Amino acid sequence: MNIILLGAPGAGKGTQASKIASKYNLLHISTGDIFRANIKGGTEIGKLAKSYIDAGKLVPDEVTCKIVEDRLTWDDAKSGYMLDGFPRNLYQAQELDKFAKIDLCLNINVDEALLMDRICGRRVCSCGESYHVSTLNGATTCAKCGNELYQRADDNPETVKARLDTYNTQTAPLIDYYEKQGKLACVTSGEGSPDEVFEQIKKILG
Ligand code: AP5
Ligand code: MG
Repeated sequence: MNIILLGAPGAGKGTQASKIASKYNLLHISTGDIFRANIKGGTEIGKLAKSYIDAGKLVPDEVTCKIVEDRLTWDDAKSGYMLDGFPRNLYQAQELDKFAKIDLCLNINVDEALLMDRICGRRVCSCGESYHVSTLNGATTCAKCGNELYQRADDNPETVKARLDTYNTQTAPLIDYYEKQGKLACVTSGEGSPDEVFEQIKKILG
């Protein structure tokens, strides 16, 4: 099964992707994670992506589509995958239809008023785990691996505003795109706890 996880910044795509990956044994491909790894590694792609990510804008389509198309040819993608953060506009969705067969688009819907707090309170670990300050009780290290937690460079109020604007103008129209294809499933109570949201997703995935 090949799934797209759609949702605004902070909707919980990454959080739910980890849960789905362990229960359904699906590969998690996050374009945001790929760009951040490239920035950390100082690659040409990383240098290009950084200026767009810092501004809350989309990295150019040609670069992003090529990365995903290449990634889907790897052996580990043969038995199913989840795309987290791709596609993010109509052009990317149309390109994806040329090189992949998508079965389902899961749209996680969350009240926009909650997103700023969720993102600005997020702390992440290099192992991929993500936390919120409200549940860390002052801890500064990862409960899973012990590494130091840090804040993503784009998780500041100004950049988040720009990311939300980018989402509303460019990504939200994809809800309609996948509904017309008969592939859309909506997680309507994305404001619930991560486990409650996952319960809804399990019902959808069956
Ligand atoms: P990306 O990394 O994809 O970021 P995003 O879409 O802005 O989404 P986030 O990762 O911020 O949120 P999430 O939905 O994963 O939420 P999470 O589970 O972490 O992209 C970053 C940038 O890369 C983009 O701005 C763009 O520049 C570039 N980029 C990426 N893909 C691209 C593409 N296709 N084309 C062009 N450019 C691209 O949760 C957030 C917080 O909330 C955490 O603290 C978490 O603990 C908490 N939380 C999660 N679920 C719940 C819950 N149910 N209840 C309470 N708290 C919760
Ligand atoms: Mg994410």
